[in-house]
Amino acid sequence: MSAEAKNAKIAGLHHMREQARLGGGQARIDRQHEQGKMTARERAEKLLDPGTFREIDPFVTHRATGFGVEEKQILGDSVVTGWGQIAGRLVYVFSQDFTVFGGSLSEVHAEKVCKVMDLAMKNGAPVIGLNDSGGARIQEGVVSLAGYAYIFLRNVLASGVVPQISAILGPCAGGAVYSPAMTDFILMTKETSHMFITGPEVIRAVTHEEVTFEELGGAMAHASNSGVAHFAAQNEEHCLGLIRQLLSYVPQNNLEDPPVVPTADPEDRMDEALKTIIPDSPTRAYDMKEVIRHVVDDGQFLEVHEHWAQNIIVGFARFGGFSVGIVAQQPMVLAGVLDIDASRKGGRFVRFCDAFNIPIITFVDVPGFLPGVEQEHGGIILNGAKLLYAYCEATVPKITIITRKAYGGAYDVMSSKHIRGDISYAWPTAEIAVMGPEGAVNIVFRKEIAAAADPEAERERLVQEYREQFANPYVAAARGYVDDIIEPQETRPRLIEALKMLQNKRDANPPKKHGNIPL
Ligand code: HXC
Repeated sequence: MSAEAKNAKIAGLHHMREQARLGGGQARIDRQHEQGKMTARERAEKLLDPGTFREIDPFVTHRATGFGVEEKQILGDSVVTGWGQIAGRLVYVFSQDFTVFGGSLSEVHAEKVCKVMDLAMKNGAPVIGLNDSGGARIQEGVVSLAGYAYIFLRNVLASGVVPQISAILGPCAGGAVYSPAMTDFILMTKETSHMFITGPEVIRAVTHEEVTFEELGGAMAHASNSGVAHFAAQNEEHCLGLIRQLLSYVPQNNLEDPPVVPTADPEDRMDEALKTIIPDSPTRAYDMKEVIRHVVDDGQFLEVHEHWAQNIIVGFARFGGFSVGIVAQQPMVLAGVLDIDASRKGGRFVRFCDAFNIPIITFVDVPGFLPGVEQEHGGIILNGAKLLYAYCEATVPKITIITRKAYGGAYDVMSSKHIRGDISYAWPTAEIAVMGPEGAVNIVFRKEIAAAADPEAERERLVQEYREQFANPYVAAARGYVDDIIEPQETRPRLIEALKMLQNKRDANPPKKHGNIPL
């Protein structure tokens, strides 16, 4: 072949690439931008370290016929796929292209997604899905449904092997929501993303309820009401930045440890502010997030599910550079009680950490499980058991700090030593008991109080006596149920010491196909 002919072939390739880059065309790209959305490639490039995105399958086209679609062939079809790096670490990406058939899922779209998921599994690296799609490609019918199912299956097989993250950056409706639902984290952008099984129109027809897209399936609806979304981002840039942040705490796969990020924050840093953080009155609230920020490296805490079930706090931080998952009660919300949503939130987070070798630090200030008909009939028994199950099952290092209340069943649940907690420390303000003094006295001394000359004074005396005898950490410490009682200001150094001591921990569950977590 002559040099001229070869050059013409290269020029042809360049032309094809340019065509592929344009996706559904400039007009549709402009529409995407007008809506405050990036294109699929812009997103992938923004997410990854500059210049690291390596796209594959840019020349794939759909194979469908009918409805005139054979005339509408767009290079790459409706998804952009490939790999790249985040902070120098390999990740796989698929990014749905709304400019092509509304990002809808065709047979080849599914094949492209499955290809990167298979590569991710073989090479042990996270998969990030950037979702922006009108759902099943209507013209392809059941072939599209099959495509979804191939992805669902891979989501499940990859679960607990490589981290999977879903960003919802546009519509995500019908059965299409189930792929993100089976990944580890869902991030949504405010105003521009929606997730629902059936939209407002169908709902109006079926249940006569009036609801807007945003109220039904917007970022805040799922971040604060349903708990489906773990993060609600201000915009796409914020969302992509959050994914990068999130991955910094997480290993590449279940056989690796999370990255260590050196810090200038001294490991032996004492924090005097912690001495006074617990209020004088046991019924007064304080902000557990303050406690967390005072002890972790550089005060940095990436909260997960910030807006949902706020009576429990979960998120990632580091101690001496080592990544940890933190689970903590929030006394400022419902007194930090465990209810259905808090148990689900905590349970799922604990299981993620355990699957990916991330030690769990638990801060306990729990008055118990929430009483009420709604909770009982909503299944607090089964839902509360999810958190208990998750802690029992977890074999990663587990360290517990009891700051104040640890009452009843909730004491057992919150990473107690009885369920394989490795190290349990209590602050001197801890109250470890079957229940709070008032409740206990009312039950145990009902007759004595009623018979007393001054029942109120007698009740007060008994409450005080109970508080002195039982509402402290020493009864538990006498039995070794807590390993030591520590001063609040030394919490950080003591946690880092314990983490280092547990660095090579080995523990395993009995061989089995899988357990039967109470779903
Ligand atoms: C084929 C689709 C499509 C789809 C959108 N398009 N959705 N093509 N299959 N599912 C095309 C449109 O025809 C249009 O093409 C282009 O994408 C942009 O769509 P618009 O409607 O112009 O955009 P917009 O006004 O922003 O509305 C977006 C939308 C709407 C809300 C997503 O398009 C829509 O409601 N689409 C249908 C959604 C749906 O019902 N999907 C099936 C859900 S069931 P042109 O050429 O005109 O630009 C499902 C089952 C999954 O997904 C099952 C998994 C098990």
